[in-house]
Amino acid sequence: MHISIIGTGYIGSVTGACFADMGHHVIFVGRDQKKLDLIRAGKSPIFEPGLDQLLTKNRKNIETATDLSETVQRTDLTFICVGTPPKKDGSSDLSQVEVVSKTIGKSLGSHTKYHTIITKSTVLPGTAEDFIIPLLEKESGKKASVDFGISSNPEFLKEGTAVEDFFHTDRVVIGVQDQRTREILETLYSPLNVPIFTTTIRTSEMIKFASNAFLATKISFANEIGNLCKASGIDSYDVFTGVGLDTRINPKFFRSGLGFGGSCFPKDVNALIAHARSKGIDPIILHSVIETNEDQPRRMIDLLKKHLDPKGHTIGILGLAFKPDTDDIRESRAIPVIRLLLQAGAKVSVYDPEAMGNFRELFPDISYAVSGLEVLASDAVLIITEWKEFESLDYHGKLVIDGRRIEKALREAAVYEGMCW
Ligand code: UGA
Repeated sequence: MHISIIGTGYIGSVTGACFADMGHHVIFVGRDQKKLDLIRAGKSPIFEPGLDQLLTKNRKNIETATDLSETVQRTDLTFICVGTPPKKDGSSDLSQVEVVSKTIGKSLGSHTKYHTIITKSTVLPGTAEDFIIPLLEKESGKKASVDFGISSNPEFLKEGTAVEDFFHTDRVVIGVQDQRTREILETLYSPLNVPIFTTTIRTSEMIKFASNAFLATKISFANEIGNLCKASGIDSYDVFTGVGLDTRINPKFFRSGLGFGGSCFPKDVNALIAHARSKGIDPIILHSVIETNEDQPRRMIDLLKKHLDPKGHTIGILGLAFKPDTDDIRESRAIPVIRLLLQAGAKVSVYDPEAMGNFRELFPDISYAVSGLEVLASDAVLIITEWKEFESLDYHGKLVIDGRRIEKALREAAVYEGMCW
């Protein structure tokens, strides 16, 4: 098939590269010429393991373009993969979705072939029906699910393992309102040989939010029980190994510690809270998920203060990315931790293998070390991200507060505090 991918961020670049690898002709459409040039050169515009190789290997199947209208005319499917950043009240900013929907609509007006538009951007339940479809119909003068196909197809990729997740996902969720679109999307995904759940568009939009909200809830639950474990001299990792053996519960996403960051969980849970409020529902559990998450950085500083007053001391930070194998620092727990340290009068020395460039823009005045080893020379060390290389540092004689459970630090440090163990 001929596929347009609108947006060269994390969802767009991974999805497009993976479709190209499945043998489809993919045209990436974006506004950022630098990113398009990288893609054309077979290089990933984001830090994501395996993506460079995939783009290089499939260069013959890949094109780039800046003219969305013309690209729609040349393709069968258009995936909307633009950003939906959070607004101040927690709801999603749909301005990019609006601009591209209008352009696609105009282009559809003079399109002779059947074309299908699929939303992969994370949008709240009802967005396709109440916002995207009306724009497409108005601009094209055509009817959705009759003259053109419309679908919602949320992604469940994790940064750092996104390529692997695409090909070996637990499920593909497809929201449609007509048989023809259903067949097109099911045919597209059938080579993956994974369960495909087809439902209404509104339901598929909700599945995305419910999935992320549940995973975030699981983590905050593990942290709440983990805090209790810590206060009771119990290792929460052993507790959740025991709990996770129950197949009704499963062991994944029970790693307690410093809490969740990233561009998805905090944003999506807050958006769901705003959505619930707009429907007159007070989402008590979701509020607590956020509150528990926001409290973990403070707990980390309290653990440090048990051993050392941060004032006037140099505190080392191992890890700035919101998780390993990415340079993404959005909502990273490093941000509140460092703010609290600076407020307490500490000097801060940080190291991350990939995320220092991004972090420098946010905190230009702290000290950026050249290695984890240099950070270890600080008066105390806080572990924020579980990068593999931190497993090979020498922690002997150090004061370590660990937010992510680095086993070597646990074994070697002179003074060691795990957050929930
Ligand atoms: C998350 C979801 O896992 C994906 O399924 C989803 O597609 C994606 O959001 C999205 O909506 O685009 P991602 O944010 O890339 O993926 O990363 P995760 O691996 O889920 O980690 C998120 C945060 O939770 C990280 O800060 C991580 O350290 C933390 N976490 C994760 C824990 O604290 N404990 C755990 O057990 C697991």
